Amino acid sequence: MIDIRTQYAGLTLRNPIIVGSSGLTNNPERNKEYEKAGAGAIVLKSLFEEQIEIQSDSLMQESDYPEAVDYIHGYAKANQVNSYLELIKNTKAVCNIPIIASINCYRTDAWVDFARQIELAGADALELNVFFLNTDLSHEYDPTFALYVNIIRKVKETISIPVIMKIGKACSNVPALVHTLKINGADGVVLFNRFYQPDIDINTMQIVSGNVFSSHSDLSDTLRWTAIVSGKIPDISIASSTGVHDWEDVVKCLLAGASAVQMCSSIYTHGAEIISQVLTCIEEWMHQTCYESLSQFHGKLNYARIKNPSIYERSQFMKYFSNRD
Ligand SMILES: Cc1cc2nc3c(=O)[nH]c(=O)nc-3n(C[C@H](O)[C@H](O)[C@H](O)COP(=O)(O)O)c2cc1C
Repeated sequence: MIDIRTQYAGLTLRNPIIVGSSGLTNNPERNKEYEKAGAGAIVLKSLFEEQIEIQSDSLMQESDYPEAVDYIHGYAKANQVNSYLELIKNTKAVCNIPIIASINCYRTDAWVDFARQIELAGADALELNVFFLNTDLSHEYDPTFALYVNIIRKVKETISIPVIMKIGKACSNVPALVHTLKINGADGVVLFNRFYQPDIDINTMQIVSGNVFSSHSDLSDTLRWTAIVSGKIPDISIASSTGVHDWEDVVKCLLAGASAVQMCSSIYTHGAEIISQVLTCIEEWMHQTCYESLSQFHGKLNYARIKNPSIYERSQFMKYFSNRD
């Protein structure tokens, strides 16, 4: 009997496939479909700090009364938060798998109250999707760390469900950041969020959206950092995300040390059925390779367990090209 259960950030998942936070997970009935297709957990669409500010700002522009501003701001915020809490409650009412709420934040203080409400609404864990791109020439050190640490500390003081940090690749030292998050209470990390990809239309001279969906080639970086972080910080749960498109990608991430994976672009492209197809293929592969549980191969090829770990490091990329004719 093949056992594909996994432990992720203190949660027991029936399998490692998590539906990633996106418009896909915005609706309780559709979330039920992912559960039926076999998903191990679901991360709900993020509640965005900017979204709340934009909605309240546009309402405020319509107001001629300055004294109404605070009221409108509070109302818009409460409205957004309430519909998000309804999404959590309604999804929990129809699904049995863990439901992970998600908030997108870029400031330290604005989210602590929401975190408490999210826990009370029944979310099984909270994913903090922190967006901060450091482009300031005057910063001599990377202020990302301090921002993340402040957020994780405040949220951990407030709630007792597992807290997972979803980070982007644009960070000067991924393992050091994950280590810092771990010692400040993070139960898991998602490596990585894939942010909006800007492109330039040279005919219209406009900034336009690049590919919304990831491609297979995005997996390399995800694998590299999953393997390095898993090898250096063995006691943190990792969900690999970005470029996980098929069952082989899932197996690769597990071998690199992920406890789970998040899939988003491939579910947009192929629908919920891809989840059951991936699970069937993983079980077949485990059967053929005589593995009975994920723990037998989890992290087998991470940075700490292979003979030549530097293969995961950037210098190998240079060697590869310098050896080519
Ligand atoms: C249309 C779309 C909407 C997304 N919305 C969110 C979101 O609200 N919160 C979030 O944390 N990530 C969001 N993401 C990022 C995904 O959760 C995921 O991290 C990213 O797409 C990489 O995974 P993939 O390669 O499987 O697509 C979104 C992605 C897409 C394509």
